[in-house]
Amino acid sequence: MSDLSTHYLGMKLKNPVIISSSTLVQNIEGVREAAQSGAGAVVLRSLFEELVREESEAHGPQMWSSHPEEYGYMMAELQLQYGPRNYLELIKKAKSEVDIPIIASINCTTPKWWINYAQQIEAAGADAIELNISLMPIDPAKTSRDVEQEFLTVMKAARENINIPIAVKLGPHFTSLSRFANEICGSGIDALVLFNRFYQFDIDIKEKKIVGANWYSSPHEMSRSLRWISVLYKRVNCDLAANTGIHDGADVIKQILAGAQVVEICSTIYLNGFGKVKEILDELSDWMKSNHYASLDDFRGQLSLSRQKDSEAYERLQYIKALTGIEKK
Ligand SMILES: Cc1cc2nc3c(=O)[nH]c(=O)nc-3n(C[C@H](O)[C@H](O)[C@H](O)COP(=O)(O)O)c2cc1C
Repeated sequence: MSDLSTHYLGMKLKNPVIISSSTLVQNIEGVREAAQSGAGAVVLRSLFEELVREESEAHGPQMWSSHPEEYGYMMAELQLQYGPRNYLELIKKAKSEVDIPIIASINCTTPKWWINYAQQIEAAGADAIELNISLMPIDPAKTSRDVEQEFLTVMKAARENINIPIAVKLGPHFTSLSRFANEICGSGIDALVLFNRFYQFDIDIKEKKIVGANWYSSPHEMSRSLRWISVLYKRVNCDLAANTGIHDGADVIKQILAGAQVVEICSTIYLNGFGKVKEILDELSDWMKSNHYASLDDFRGQLSLSRQKDSEAYERLQYIKALTGIEKK
């Protein structure tokens, strides 16, 4: 019997498959289903910073002042379904009903409103918090360092005020990710989730308006996180969670070979149902048996960059091989 257990955020998980933050796990029914599917842990749907702010303030934030009606309507709807109080209730229920770790998630752009609330999340029993820092660098006056500094400010405030482990879910668009990742992990953050998949947008040419698009990932989107997990394994002082485009057991095996501690999956569950978790775990287990691996540690990071003698030359070599077609022969 293969041992699929893994360590993540200071916890022992029975396997590395985590249900990623989404509407799949926005209520207790979803959390129960996730646990029954055999997943190793759950990241609850994110609570938006704006909802915490809304509850503690009489007025909506300035940034919405040009859309007061839309803002009012949206906030009323969101508060009702996804408000901060319900979130604490969900954590408590989840902790009392299922026996896998429950990771809370905050979607934020600043540390201003939710830090005190995060302490209540901790008190409600969440095992860890994942921060989805959704800062879009659209201000042309800001340098890449200014943007990084904003991320670091949020993380610092979180680390100083929250005692449970903290994971940070990052998008892929950083100028010097190796250095930035090291800075994040050096600041007391316990894990990096690579990579967040942001809301994708499109334009409806008939209605002439912006609409959401491509809600679910496809497997080819995984290569970006595969590369960066492989680059950062053993080169940052925190756990690495792979996310985006992981759709089957082979994808999970690849991410662990690259160096992932765990994987977070979401689109494949929307597309195939929670039964996909068992399929993935069976595929992982069968592959380990046929390769004579007793545990994930036996092969984790085997294809990471840190295992290559001259890592920069190795990356360059793979690139040249791919471009010249030599790899195909
Ligand atoms: C319908 C939907 C809702 C989501 N909601 C959240 C959320 O609340 N918080 C969050 O951090 N990510 C959210 N995500 C992003 C997923 O957690 C995940 O990062 C992304 O879908 C990439 O993983 P995948 O390729 O396995 O889908 C959502 C994704 C979808 C499709």
